[in-house]
Amino acid sequence: MARKIILDVDTGTDDAVAVMLAALHPALDLVGCTTVNGNIRVESCTDNTLRVLDHIGRSSIPVYEGLTRPIARVDFPIPRGEKDHSGKYHPDTLPIPPPTSRKQDAGAIEFLIEMFRAATEEIVLVPVGPLTNIATALLLDPKFAKRVPEIVIMGGGHELGNVTPSAEFNVWADPEAAAMVFAAGFEKITLVPLDATHRALITQAQCEELEALGTSAGQAAAAFIGHRIVVHDTHQRQDVPHSTPVHDALAVGAVIDPSLIVTRKLHVAVETDGPLTVGRTVIDTHFRGGKAPNAEVAFDADASRFFDLLLRTFAAKA
Ligand code: RIB
Ligand code: CA
Repeated sequence: MARKIILDVDTGTDDAVAVMLAALHPALDLVGCTTVNGNIRVESCTDNTLRVLDHIGRSSIPVYEGLTRPIARVDFPIPRGEKDHSGKYHPDTLPIPPPTSRKQDAGAIEFLIEMFRAATEEIVLVPVGPLTNIATALLLDPKFAKRVPEIVIMGGGHELGNVTPSAEFNVWADPEAAAMVFAAGFEKITLVPLDATHRALITQAQCEELEALGTSAGQAAAAFIGHRIVVHDTHQRQDVPHSTPVHDALAVGAVIDPSLIVTRKLHVAVETDGPLTVGRTVIDTHFRGGKAPNAEVAFDADASRFFDLLLRTFAAKA
C-alpha cells in the first residue's frame, strides 16, 4: 500500500521536482501540499505548486496556503521574488502554464492539525521550506508532535551553509520555528541537510535524459533542474561540472527509499542568537553536549540511484 505523505513547500525549482516525485511515485500517496513563505512569497509558492500539479495531471491533490512570514522575526527579509536567498535572480513563476485549479479555502495550519488529528493511517510529514507552518501547528495543537509518526526535513548543514557560512536557507529563514521543531519530541525526525543533498548532484547530461523522456514531468524536471544548473554554474559552482543539488527531491526520495541516504542518529539544535551563526543546525557529531539524539541526520546520498529514481518516476505517462 502507498505511504501517505504531506509536503510542506516553498515552491521554487527543487520543491517543484519534489512535488512531482511525491505526486507520481506509486509508493506514495500525496494527500496534500501546504505552502509557506520562503525563497519566494507564499502566494507565488502556492501558484507554483498548483501549476506543477496541473501540469502533471494531478490537479486533484489539494494545496493549502500557509504563513506569510517567520514566526518571530520582523527583521528578516520577506522575499519579494526578484532574488533568491543567495541574492541571485530567481523568477517567481515556474516556466509552465498558469494553474487552472485553485488553492483550498482552508489554510495550511488548519489542514495539518486536522489531518493528523483524524488520521487512521500513518502520514509522513515532509517539510522542505522554512519550518514556520510546522512550528505554528505545534503551538496550536499541543499533541501535534505525538500525532506525527515521522517527519523528514530538508534543511540545515554541518559542513556546509548556503545563505551564510554557518546556515542553510530553510533553517535560517525561520530559526525559532526550526528550534521548536527539533525540541518538540517528534517520534522520528530524519534530517536531510546540505551535506547529503550536495552528494546527490544532477548533471546537465542527466537533465538531457529527463528531457528525452518526452513526458510532462520529464520535460518540466529538465527545465527546472537546467535552470538550477545555470544558477549554480554562475554563482555556486559544484565539484561535479555543470551540476546542481535538487535538495527537496532528495528528501522525498528518502521517504520512497531510505537506503538512498546514509544517516547517523545525533542530537540537533538550532542557533537563534549568534550574530554570525544564527540559523545554524548544531549537530552534535561527537556527543559533546550530553543530550540524547533526536534525529537521523543524513551525511551521504547515492547520486546515481537518486537520479534513476527520478528518471523511472518521470518516465511514466500521466
Ligand atoms: O537550502 C536549500 C533549500 O532552500 C531548499 O529547500 C530550496 O528549495 C531552497 O529554498
Ligand atoms: Ca524548498
